[in-house]
Amino acid sequence: MGLFIDIARSRHSCRMFGESPLSDEEMRLILEAGELAPSSRNLHPVRLFPVSDTDAIRALAGCRPSSTTALKTATFAVVVAADPMVSDVWIEDCSIASIMMQLEAEDLGLGSCWIQVRLRSSVDGSAEDVVRNVLGLDTDLTVHSIIAIGKQ
Ligand SMILES: Cc1cc2nc3c(=O)[nH]c(=O)nc-3n(C[C@H](O)[C@H](O)[C@H](O)COP(=O)(O)O)c2cc1C
Repeated sequence: MGLFIDIARSRHSCRMFGESPLSDEEMRLILEAGELAPSSRNLHPVRLFPVSDTDAIRALAGCRPSSTTALKTATFAVVVAADPMVSDVWIEDCSIASIMMQLEAEDLGLGSCWIQVRLRSSVDGSAEDVVRNVLGLDTDLTVHSIIAIGKQ
């Protein structure tokens, strides 16, 4: 464990990962960091969906025609979604959870990359619909981003 400023300084987007999977503890810590994110009025509208099945992660890569390179080799991904009816500032809350997970990944010596889903399109629809189909998400949830993670 280093100083926080060292983690902030060394973090960078990683879009190519090695094949070895994360340990259960690494995945648990990343999710815990996301769950610990503060939220406006403490309403916690954010829902995190961990994905460790590589076929499912590769399917998530199809949510956009480009800019999903990191999902093509990631061994872990967390889909960040929220219920907009719970909080009007769910986008801010999702963004904070996303960067918290990226910084935890960095602290663990892992690489990560933010994949934008909200407001983005797939080849024939919305990026969100692809993610929704891969995960079978509830209709009350809106997808914000995917954090792609793996060993560097
Ligand atoms: C809101 C947001 C959306 C992003 N969307 C994508 C994306 O869809 N695909 C991607 O490969 N990188 C994405 N990134 C990563 C940025 O391209 C990257 O953070 C930026 O170029 C700075 O590089 P660095 O992370 O190495 O400092 C996104 C980052 C943020 C903060």
